[in-house]
Amino acid sequence: MDFNGQALAARLAGKRIGGKVHFFEEISSTNDFAYRLGVEGAPEGTVAVADHQTKGKGRLNRVWQSPPKANLYTTILLRPAIEAAVAAQITLLAGVAVADVLSRYCPGVTLKWPNDVRIRGRKVCGILTEMKAAGARVDFAVVGIGININMKRDDLDEAFREISTTLREEVGHSVSRLDVAVALFEDLDNLYGRYLSEGFEPIRTLWTAYADILGKPIQVVFGDEIQQGEVLGIDESGALLLSDGQGGTKRILAGDASVVKNP
Ligand code: BTN
Repeated sequence: MDFNGQALAARLAGKRIGGKVHFFEEISSTNDFAYRLGVEGAPEGTVAVADHQTKGKGRLNRVWQSPPKANLYTTILLRPAIEAAVAAQITLLAGVAVADVLSRYCPGVTLKWPNDVRIRGRKVCGILTEMKAAGARVDFAVVGIGININMKRDDLDEAFREISTTLREEVGHSVSRLDVAVALFEDLDNLYGRYLSEGFEPIRTLWTAYADILGKPIQVVFGDEIQQGEVLGIDESGALLLSDGQGGTKRILAGDASVVKNP
């Protein structure tokens, strides 16, 4: 079946996440669209899906490569009753959902803090969560997920060809974007339900099982600041915990993490 709004709506009718789908042949960014929906008061679980983004955004003002007829670009609107300080938990939760779904297609799926899903060490998906706060609380969060599905390696921007991959390259054949999207929304729905009723702890356990940098020496770059240490895990708020080498722990809230070869 084709990848379009009707097909998605037929498979997601009645669900909390995806029960209302806005599908676009082309849009600037599903995150920007979903953010506007959030401001207008749209209900939790509304999703935007696009075949093609002309201004796909990555973290730290990077561009997210978003060609037509190839990948999944989606943003989910959520309204969790949580403090803005722990909103990173939502990104980690989404990473677990993506990892669950991709693991059904191939082995070697891991999570790299804070927002990358990788297959055999290469990035296949990025997650960009943006939120609107109301005082110290979250008013709404938009969780943008881009998964490289059927793009060929040669079509990846040259700068990313060595460090990124696509599901098709990993499994050896093209994959139904509709199936991936439906499975993703279903898994997200289950995990989000658990998060609302049981808190972050079960998600933290699941995330840790997929994590690929535990115990490794890494550096985290955020602007001009560089932090180094061995990865101990993530804490109850979703922050990364690094050992400071002197028996203490550093909490890292944001940045780009990479393994240090010769610390
Ligand atoms: C990153 O790894 O830097 C995050 C990439 C997030 C990309 C997705 S694609 C769907 C949604 N719309 C956007 O403009 N960005 C996110």
